[in-house]
Amino acid sequence: MILDPGMINPLMAGTPGTLLPQPCVLVIFGAAGDLSWRKLLPAVYNLNVDGSLPSNFAVVGFGIGSQGDPDQWIRNRAKEGITRFSRQAIEDDSWADFERSLFYVEGSFSDLKAYEILKTRLDAIDAQFGVPGSRVFYLSIPPTAVPQAVEHLKTAGMVCDPEDKKSFSRVIVEKPIGRDLQSAREIIEAVGRSFAEPQTYRIDHYLGKETVQNLLVLRFANSIFEPLWNQKYIDHVQITVAEEEGLTQYDPTTGEITGSRIGYYENVGALRDMVQNHMLQILCMIAMEPPWSIAPDDIRDAKLGVLRSLRPLTADTIDKSVVRAQYIDGDIHGHGFPSYRQEVRDDFRRRKQPVPPDSTTESFIAMRLFIDNWRWAGVPFYLRTGKRLPKRSSEVAIQFKDVPQVLFNAKPDVPLEPTVLSLRVQPEEGLSLRLASKMPGPKLRIYPVKMEFNYSNSFGGVSPEAYERLILDVMAGDATLFMRRDAVEAAWKFVMPILETWDNAHARYLPEYRAGTWGPLEADRLIESDGRQWRTL
Ligand code: BG6
Repeated sequence: MILDPGMINPLMAGTPGTLLPQPCVLVIFGAAGDLSWRKLLPAVYNLNVDGSLPSNFAVVGFGIGSQGDPDQWIRNRAKEGITRFSRQAIEDDSWADFERSLFYVEGSFSDLKAYEILKTRLDAIDAQFGVPGSRVFYLSIPPTAVPQAVEHLKTAGMVCDPEDKKSFSRVIVEKPIGRDLQSAREIIEAVGRSFAEPQTYRIDHYLGKETVQNLLVLRFANSIFEPLWNQKYIDHVQITVAEEEGLTQYDPTTGEITGSRIGYYENVGALRDMVQNHMLQILCMIAMEPPWSIAPDDIRDAKLGVLRSLRPLTADTIDKSVVRAQYIDGDIHGHGFPSYRQEVRDDFRRRKQPVPPDSTTESFIAMRLFIDNWRWAGVPFYLRTGKRLPKRSSEVAIQFKDVPQVLFNAKPDVPLEPTVLSLRVQPEEGLSLRLASKMPGPKLRIYPVKMEFNYSNSFGGVSPEAYERLILDVMAGDATLFMRRDAVEAAWKFVMPILETWDNAHARYLPEYRAGTWGPLEADRLIESDGRQWRTL
């Protein structure tokens, strides 16, 4: 369906002709890891079930950790992941079709010999599946491993000339790109030595979410929003990305712990994991100026304008504008969870991974920021994200200014509820507009009502996962939804003063919030000190 040119949304797609995914082998570095297990392999499986993939296509996992026959091992692991996480249930026929094109090459990312083995295997798979040597390398590996991986890919002869007309090599680089501005630049440079910019796709899966893409359509395909979309009418904006999951994931239906991200998250924290990328990208979609055209670079230029207009935070303002915190033990839906510092989990190789007992990695962050341009002067944007919050819920709320204190709003002790446009990113994707309405009856009573649009009611079914859309885009060579180098650097520049201030503070404890609550009191105080409140989700 995605590929029916009649149904392609031209805003996101470039020209329909370039959209078709081209035959290739998708090589997943780190295929045994959590992201591949939960998201990437289920995404490719769903694309296969939907018939969206070319018939000349195969998937090869690359990494360490297999046991016994590597191909059989990855097939078993993929099947387990797909059974748990796929949006479409696994079925015998479709599994058999997928499984026959799934392989694994065991090897270390730092070992050049392993790349030579990988190349030989890829050549054989090309011959078997009729692929013309085209490859998408998905680097689902720690940022520190990226420079060596791309260098070895090039040395082993697996990167073709960007001008090559018969085959292509493309690389997908996962976020976070680096752990600060300096390391991000090093990674970008290192990737640039092996792959040209048009061959490079820096992924932020939030940009592949239907509702995030819809932000642009909503703003620029409807005439009623744009005139109101500025400091004259908007009081403030709240962006929330709340997750129930902590460092370990719990499956409420089976009561099992299903995975661990301790090794990754402990070195990262919420600012690097969610704010530097996903949340700033959402902010760009909300706040950008209308792009010149729908061409990838015009959209990306407009987004960059937002990042460049962010008011820089300084050591003095960070204290008042940013709150970080860590969860302590608590209950979510009747299930007890340990505190952040007590999380322990076996990884897929059955190695114990405890969080250090003195960890000061933040699992929650709330902040107030400003965009210093004509459109947004003086409008605060409040961002909050955290793990082990009461529910999974992501929303952008645009709160409009109060009506004047006359007529229906004349009593300051009973103010009218403000008008709010709420854009729900997940779950129950959709939007609602809260308006004041007269309650039926002889008395004049005003009550807030909601106008609702819900994706599944209007369009039916479950939206494809973001990774499905993005993997197809790479196979088709469409970079619209991927981050350009300048945007990655601009986002790092904005968060660097926060990281530096935190480093200099040498905090031994962070503010705490109980698992299953909406964050620490400090986050409430941050917004309440401006006379506002976090929305109840
Ligand atoms: C990832 C982060 O990028 O996004 C995770 O690394 C987070 O920590 C995840 O849980 C959230 O994605 P989604 O699509 O489930 O909202």
